[in-house]
Amino acid sequence: MKLKQRLGLLVGQSYVHLMSGYEQLRYGVSLNPLSPAVFKDPYRFHSNLRANAPVHYSQTWRAWWVTEFDLVQEILRSKSFGASVLPFPERVAELTRTMSEERLERFRNPSMLDLDPPDHTRVRRLAQQGFVHKFIQSLEPRIRKLVDDNLDSCGNEAEIDFVAALAKPLPAIVIAEMLGLPRSDHAQFMNWAEELMLGVSTIDPELIERSVKANSALYDYFRIVAQSKKKEPGNDLMSRLIAAEEEGDRLNGPELYNTCVLLLLAGHETTTRLIGNGLYLLLQYPEQQAWLRQNIAKIPNAIEEMLRFEPPVQATRRFVLEDMEFHGHRFKRGQLVFVSIAGANRDPSVNQKPDEFNVMRQAAKQVAFGYGIHLCIGASLARLEAKVAFEEIFKRYDSMSLVNTNPRWGSSTFFRGHEELLVKVSTAGASK
Ligand code: HEM
Repeated sequence: MKLKQRLGLLVGQSYVHLMSGYEQLRYGVSLNPLSPAVFKDPYRFHSNLRANAPVHYSQTWRAWWVTEFDLVQEILRSKSFGASVLPFPERVAELTRTMSEERLERFRNPSMLDLDPPDHTRVRRLAQQGFVHKFIQSLEPRIRKLVDDNLDSCGNEAEIDFVAALAKPLPAIVIAEMLGLPRSDHAQFMNWAEELMLGVSTIDPELIERSVKANSALYDYFRIVAQSKKKEPGNDLMSRLIAAEEEGDRLNGPELYNTCVLLLLAGHETTTRLIGNGLYLLLQYPEQQAWLRQNIAKIPNAIEEMLRFEPPVQATRRFVLEDMEFHGHRFKRGQLVFVSIAGANRDPSVNQKPDEFNVMRQAAKQVAFGYGIHLCIGASLARLEAKVAFEEIFKRYDSMSLVNTNPRWGSSTFFRGHEELLVKVSTAGASK
């Protein structure tokens, strides 16, 4: 890292520590994005915010944080908040100051996650055609085979890192196959996927640089693959996206390539975290794991509780579109609002005993896949991958325990998960 970058990082980090200390003293709440205590147990901080200041302007983040379930839903469905930064020239200027011409081009053509209606409505409607329920459900046998192959490759090892062996590769291979990418490209694709993730929630300029490079490489790669699929369409998601048409409208080039990169970005890290966090919870609560093994059909319900209790995406963001009053607070146009999924899912006014993990919990309220017009497009795919993963893990291993009972959580305020989950296993065959 260059000296200038290093100094910039140090100044930024000192500001964050100072401001969050000030907020703790002044308001009794803080959410320090660099604090190991927050990575270990973010819920304590989100819940403290919710109890003391459910709508809070944080000097540390220079943004609002909203942590109550009803308010979170209100913002995510409200037309007074947008996901696009483009209407705010001063923010755009700040973000684009150091961007190359190539990055600027992609910035000006954002993916649907960063679009507002009517563009968002258009792109999403077209992209959704690739996610029809029947198509997703038809992937189950193939996903099962992929899970099996990944677990087979662990051989008879007594200790397995389930993040590296299954949770990480599975969603990337599933997306690569869904998009119809040639098998010979899969290794390179996985590599880009890994690099892309590095920049998702960090302020380290080196990691951001690597992630930006992978993003460019993927964008160019999808452009080339799209050309061949236009000539020879297959029965895959990319060919469906190319052919998707609504009232004479189609995805243009940048929209198509951006949608493909977004599917990888939005569907990879998140599903990895769901499988990893879910497994970690089952290992932390062996009596619930034992019950679930006896009640395999309840796995989908258990997955809803995993999503509620340890949401892979902890928060998302919106911009205030016009000056307004929000529950007694003055919101100004262009201000950033962080919407706390972690806080909402643990809100005691919607879920009883929210800090208890309970796979038998019925009709839990949660917003792990978001809410409103940006509600996750890949939710049923993620649920399916996790269901198959847990079914196969149970089938194959009779007993499992954590090698390190206190594995380190990743250091991100926005994504929740472990980088490694080393588990001691004994296989069903071995014990018979
Ligand atoms: C457990 C796994 C997943 C979680 C927790 C998750 C979570 C989310 C959340 C919270 C949002 C809304 C963000 C916002 O409102 O700002 C979202 C949107 C999205 N997700 Fe997922 N996601 C998961 C898996 C997937 C998968 C597997 C795919 C596709 C392969 C996917 C594709 C998308 C897309 C395209 C959007 C943007 C929708 C829009 O802007 O209209 N996600 N996801």
